[in-house]
Amino acid sequence: MKFFIDTANLAQIKEANELGILDGVTTNPSLMAKEGIKGNDAVWQHYKDICDIVHAPVSAEVISTDFAGIVEEGKKLATIDPNIVVKVPMIKDGIKAIKWFTDNGIKTNCTLVFSAGQAILAAKAGATYVSPFIGRIDDSSWDGVELISQISHIYRLQQFKTEILAASIRNALHIVRCAEVGADVCTCPLDSILGLLKHPLTDIGLAKFLEDANSMK
Ligand code: G3P
Repeated sequence: MKFFIDTANLAQIKEANELGILDGVTTNPSLMAKEGIKGNDAVWQHYKDICDIVHAPVSAEVISTDFAGIVEEGKKLATIDPNIVVKVPMIKDGIKAIKWFTDNGIKTNCTLVFSAGQAILAAKAGATYVSPFIGRIDDSSWDGVELISQISHIYRLQQFKTEILAASIRNALHIVRCAEVGADVCTCPLDSILGLLKHPLTDIGLAKFLEDANSMK
Protein backbone atom coordinates (compact mmCIF):
# COMPACT_ATOMS: atom_id res chain seq x y z
CA MET A 1 0.00 0.00 0.00
CA LYS A 2 1.27 3.45 -0.95
CA PHE A 3 1.39 6.31 1.57
CA PHE A 4 0.26 9.78 0.50
CA ILE A 5 0.11 12.74 2.87
CA ASP A 6 -3.19 14.63 2.98
CA THR A 7 -2.17 18.24 3.59
CA ALA A 8 -1.06 21.45 1.90
CA ASN A 9 1.32 22.27 4.77
CA LEU A 10 4.83 22.41 3.30
CA ALA A 11 6.62 21.72 6.61
CA GLN A 12 4.54 18.57 7.18
CA ILE A 13 5.07 17.47 3.57
CA LYS A 14 8.84 17.88 4.02
CA GLU A 15 8.80 16.00 7.34
CA ALA A 16 6.88 13.06 5.83
CA ASN A 17 9.08 13.08 2.74
CA GLU A 18 12.23 12.93 4.86
CA LEU A 19 10.92 9.75 6.48
CA GLY A 20 11.51 8.16 3.07
CA ILE A 21 8.16 6.39 2.94
CA LEU A 22 6.09 8.99 1.11
CA ASP A 23 4.56 8.08 -2.27
CA GLY A 24 2.53 11.22 -3.00
CA VAL A 25 0.41 14.13 -1.76
CA THR A 26 -3.28 14.95 -1.83
CA THR A 27 -4.74 18.41 -1.26
CA ASN A 28 -8.20 19.90 -1.43
CA PRO A 29 -9.55 23.48 -1.32
CA SER A 30 -10.14 23.27 2.46
CA LEU A 31 -6.54 22.17 3.09
CA MET A 32 -5.22 24.94 0.80
CA ALA A 33 -7.39 27.57 2.56
CA LYS A 34 -6.09 26.33 5.94
CA GLU A 35 -2.58 27.38 4.83
CA GLY A 36 -3.86 30.93 4.18
CA ILE A 37 -3.28 30.75 0.42
CA LYS A 38 -5.24 33.40 -1.47
CA GLY A 39 -5.58 34.01 -5.22
CA ASN A 40 -4.92 31.87 -8.29
CA ASP A 41 -1.24 32.77 -8.56
CA ALA A 42 -0.59 31.79 -4.95
CA VAL A 43 -2.48 28.52 -5.38
CA TRP A 44 -0.51 27.78 -8.54
CA GLN A 45 2.82 28.56 -6.83
CA HIS A 46 1.86 26.39 -3.85
CA TYR A 47 1.27 23.37 -6.09
CA LYS A 48 4.67 24.04 -7.69
CA ASP A 49 6.29 24.18 -4.24
CA ILE A 50 4.71 20.85 -3.29
CA CYS A 51 5.84 19.26 -6.57
CA ASP A 52 9.39 20.52 -5.92
CA ILE A 53 9.45 18.70 -2.56
CA VAL A 54 7.78 15.43 -3.55
CA HIS A 55 8.56 13.93 -6.94
CA ALA A 56 5.49 11.72 -6.99
CA PRO A 57 1.75 12.14 -7.65
CA VAL A 58 0.27 15.39 -6.25
CA SER A 59 -3.53 15.77 -6.39
CA ALA A 60 -4.75 19.29 -7.24
CA GLU A 61 -8.49 19.79 -7.06
CA VAL A 62 -10.64 21.66 -9.58
CA ILE A 63 -13.28 24.04 -8.27
CA SER A 64 -15.42 24.15 -11.43
CA THR A 65 -18.52 22.00 -11.45
CA ASP A 66 -19.47 22.07 -15.15
CA PHE A 67 -17.85 19.87 -17.81
CA ALA A 68 -16.20 22.67 -19.82
CA GLY A 69 -14.94 24.42 -16.70
CA ILE A 70 -13.53 21.23 -15.14
CA VAL A 71 -11.72 20.33 -18.38
CA GLU A 72 -10.27 23.82 -18.83
CA GLU A 73 -9.17 24.04 -15.20
CA GLY A 74 -7.78 20.49 -15.17
CA LYS A 75 -5.79 21.06 -18.37
CA LYS A 76 -4.17 24.14 -16.77
CA LEU A 77 -3.42 22.32 -13.51
CA ALA A 78 -1.82 19.48 -15.45
CA THR A 79 0.70 21.92 -16.98
CA ILE A 80 2.12 22.81 -13.52
CA ASP A 81 4.13 19.59 -13.25
CA PRO A 82 4.07 16.10 -14.81
CA ASN A 83 3.19 14.69 -11.36
CA ILE A 84 -0.04 16.67 -11.03
CA VAL A 85 -3.16 14.49 -10.75
CA VAL A 86 -6.39 16.39 -11.42
CA LYS A 87 -8.84 15.88 -8.57
CA VAL A 88 -12.44 15.92 -9.75
CA PRO A 89 -15.63 15.68 -7.66
CA MET A 90 -18.01 12.73 -8.03
CA ILE A 91 -20.73 14.56 -9.94
CA LYS A 92 -22.25 13.94 -13.39
CA ASP A 93 -20.07 16.51 -15.18
CA GLY A 94 -17.12 15.28 -13.12
CA ILE A 95 -17.51 11.76 -14.52
CA LYS A 96 -17.74 13.16 -18.08
CA ALA A 97 -14.60 15.21 -17.43
CA ILE A 98 -12.72 12.21 -15.95
CA LYS A 99 -13.49 10.26 -19.13
CA TRP A 100 -12.19 13.22 -21.19
CA PHE A 101 -9.01 13.41 -19.09
CA THR A 102 -8.55 9.62 -19.39
CA ASP A 103 -8.85 9.82 -23.19
CA ASN A 104 -6.35 12.69 -23.24
CA GLY A 105 -3.71 11.11 -21.01
CA ILE A 106 -4.31 13.27 -17.90
CA LYS A 107 -4.34 11.44 -14.54
CA THR A 108 -7.34 11.92 -12.26
CA ASN A 109 -8.44 11.40 -8.70
CA CYS A 110 -12.21 11.11 -8.30
CA THR A 111 -13.02 12.66 -4.91
CA LEU A 112 -15.97 12.84 -2.51
CA VAL A 113 -16.83 9.16 -2.98
CA PHE A 114 -19.15 7.63 -0.39
CA SER A 115 -20.61 4.53 -2.07
CA ALA A 116 -19.63 1.48 -4.13
CA GLY A 117 -21.88 2.67 -6.97
CA GLN A 118 -19.94 5.92 -7.20
CA ALA A 119 -16.67 3.96 -7.18
CA ILE A 120 -17.89 1.80 -10.09
CA LEU A 121 -18.72 4.92 -12.13
CA ALA A 122 -15.29 6.44 -11.40
CA ALA A 123 -13.60 3.23 -12.56
CA LYS A 124 -15.74 3.05 -15.71
CA ALA A 125 -14.64 6.61 -16.56
CA GLY A 126 -11.03 5.50 -16.17
CA ALA A 127 -10.10 7.48 -13.04
CA THR A 128 -6.50 6.84 -11.96
CA TYR A 129 -7.59 6.96 -8.31
CA VAL A 130 -10.91 6.83 -6.48
CA SER A 131 -11.11 8.53 -3.08
CA PRO A 132 -13.66 7.12 -0.61
CA PHE A 133 -13.80 9.36 2.50
CA ILE A 134 -13.75 6.81 5.29
CA GLY A 135 -13.53 9.17 8.29
CA ARG A 136 -16.57 11.13 7.17
CA ILE A 137 -18.47 7.84 6.67
CA ASP A 138 -17.54 6.79 10.23
CA ASP A 139 -18.72 10.22 11.41
CA SER A 140 -22.17 9.43 10.03
CA SER A 141 -22.23 6.11 11.94
CA TRP A 142 -21.51 3.90 8.90
CA ASP A 143 -18.34 1.81 8.47
CA GLY A 144 -15.82 3.56 6.21
CA VAL A 145 -13.37 0.65 6.09
CA GLU A 146 -16.22 -1.68 5.08
CA LEU A 147 -16.71 0.52 1.99
CA ILE A 148 -13.01 0.17 1.10
CA SER A 149 -13.39 -3.60 1.45
CA GLN A 150 -16.49 -3.65 -0.80
CA ILE A 151 -14.84 -1.50 -3.50
CA SER A 152 -11.69 -3.61 -3.31
CA HIS A 153 -13.75 -6.79 -3.85
CA ILE A 154 -15.63 -5.26 -6.81
CA TYR A 155 -12.51 -3.83 -8.48
CA ARG A 156 -10.61 -7.14 -8.21
CA LEU A 157 -13.61 -9.13 -9.50
CA GLN A 158 -14.21 -6.75 -12.40
CA GLN A 159 -10.50 -6.17 -13.05
CA PHE A 160 -10.86 -2.38 -12.88
CA LYS A 161 -7.50 -0.60 -13.05
CA THR A 162 -8.47 2.39 -10.85
CA GLU A 163 -6.48 2.52 -7.60
CA ILE A 164 -8.41 2.75 -4.34
CA LEU A 165 -7.12 5.77 -2.43
CA ALA A 166 -8.54 5.69 1.09
CA ALA A 167 -9.06 9.31 2.21
CA SER A 168 -10.37 11.14 5.26
CA ILE A 169 -8.08 9.06 7.45
CA ARG A 170 -8.36 10.04 11.11
CA ASN A 171 -5.97 7.72 12.96
CA ALA A 172 -3.32 5.00 12.71
CA LEU A 173 -5.90 2.21 13.05
CA HIS A 174 -7.64 3.47 9.90
CA ILE A 175 -4.33 2.99 8.04
CA VAL A 176 -3.86 -0.55 9.33
CA ARG A 177 -7.46 -1.53 8.52
CA CYS A 178 -7.24 -0.01 5.02
CA ALA A 179 -4.09 -2.08 4.40
CA GLU A 180 -5.93 -5.21 5.62
CA VAL A 181 -8.83 -4.81 3.19
CA GLY A 182 -6.78 -3.99 0.10
CA ALA A 183 -6.58 -0.20 -0.30
CA ASP A 184 -3.91 0.63 -2.90
CA VAL A 185 -3.15 3.99 -1.30
CA CYS A 186 -3.87 5.63 2.04
CA THR A 187 -3.74 9.43 2.18
CA CYS A 188 -3.17 10.48 5.76
CA PRO A 189 -2.53 13.46 7.99
CA LEU A 190 1.06 13.44 9.33
CA ASP A 191 -0.19 12.64 12.86
CA SER A 192 -1.82 9.42 11.69
CA ILE A 193 1.36 8.32 9.90
CA LEU A 194 3.46 9.07 12.98
CA GLY A 195 0.84 7.29 15.10
CA LEU A 196 1.97 4.03 13.46
CA LEU A 197 5.28 4.39 15.31
CA LYS A 198 3.73 4.34 18.73
CA HIS A 199 3.87 1.38 21.09
CA PRO A 200 4.59 1.61 24.84
CA LEU A 201 6.54 -1.67 24.79
CA THR A 202 8.90 -0.15 22.22
CA ASP A 203 9.54 2.82 24.52
CA ILE A 204 9.98 0.57 27.60
CA GLY A 205 12.20 -1.85 25.69
CA LEU A 206 14.40 0.92 24.28
CA ALA A 207 14.78 2.57 27.71
CA LYS A 208 15.93 -0.79 29.15
CA PHE A 209 18.39 -1.44 26.31
CA LEU A 210 19.90 2.03 26.75
CA GLU A 211 20.09 1.57 30.54
CA ASP A 212 21.86 -1.79 30.13
CA ALA A 213 24.18 -0.37 27.48
CA ASN A 214 25.12 2.45 29.88
CA SER A 215 25.80 -0.03 32.69
CA MET A 216 28.49 -1.64 30.54
CA LYS A 217 30.49 1.59 30.13
O1 G3P B 1 -8.54 14.95 0.91
C1 G3P B 1 -9.84 14.68 1.30
C2 G3P B 1 -10.05 14.05 2.65
O2 G3P B 1 -8.94 13.36 3.04
C3 G3P B 1 -10.65 14.95 3.69
O3 G3P B 1 -10.51 14.47 5.00
O4 G3P B 1 -10.62 14.79 7.44
O5 G3P B 1 -11.63 16.52 5.93
O6 G3P B 1 -12.70 14.29 6.19
P1 G3P B 1 -11.41 15.05 6.20
